[in-house]
Amino acid sequence: MHIVLLGPPGAGKGTQAEMLSEAGDLAHVAVGEILRQAIREKTDLGIEAEMYVEQGELVPDEIIAGVIEERLRADDAQKGALLDGFPRNLTQAEFLDQLLKKLGLSLDAVVYIDVPFAALIRRSTGRRICSGCGRVYHVEFNLPQRDNVCDECGGELIQREDDREETVRNRLEVYLEQTGPLVDYYDERGLLRRVDGDQSIDEVFQVLKTMVLESHS
Ligand code: AP5
Repeated sequence: MHIVLLGPPGAGKGTQAEMLSEAGDLAHVAVGEILRQAIREKTDLGIEAEMYVEQGELVPDEIIAGVIEERLRADDAQKGALLDGFPRNLTQAEFLDQLLKKLGLSLDAVVYIDVPFAALIRRSTGRRICSGCGRVYHVEFNLPQRDNVCDECGGELIQREDDREETVRNRLEVYLEQTGPLVDYYDERGLLRRVDGDQSIDEVFQVLKTMVLESHS
């Protein structure tokens, strides 16, 4: 089972992908997290991607194509994967079609998490992530058990560089211009499923679990 999670920055793609991958034993392919880790570790990929990520711009397609191909060829992605943050424009969507074909795989569904723009700024600017394992929290909606400490690994919680309000606004513009057209692209192919993301994390999860895991089991 290969599923794309589509939605604007802050829609809850990462949060839901984490929960669904655990519940359904699927690989969580989180392109943004792969890039942030590469930036932390100062690898060649990290050095190439850093400026784009920090400004909220898309990293060039040819760099992302290599990242996604390597990730989808990994052993854990063969049983199925949730693609979080890819594709993000039409070129990437066409690349994904060709790549899955080459790997003998297919796309089962594209789940669009719909959240009003007014809620997205609050979600992104209040987000905190673990500096150790990358787990996602929120200062109002998803608190850790101990202040500023990750429940999972005990790491310190920090704010993402690109979660400052000005950068979040730019990411929303980039989304509207480049990623928005993918809603129609996948709708026309009969793959699009819509979920109301303006509910609590657990409510969204219950809907997704039925839609994604139970309908494909
Ligand atoms: P990426 O990390 O993928 O960022 P994004 O797509 O902008 O998505 P976010 O991580 O901001 O949001 P999300 O939908 O995952 O929400 P989350 O679950 O965290 O990409 C970062 C950058 O990398 C890009 O800007 C770009 O530069 C580059 N990049 C990545 N992929 C690329 C690609 N394919 N091509 C080119 N460049 C690429 O939730 C947000 C917050 O809200 C959290 O605090 C969470 O706790 C909270 N929350 C979640 N759900 C709810 C809810 N239902 N109610 C209340 N709060 C909630």
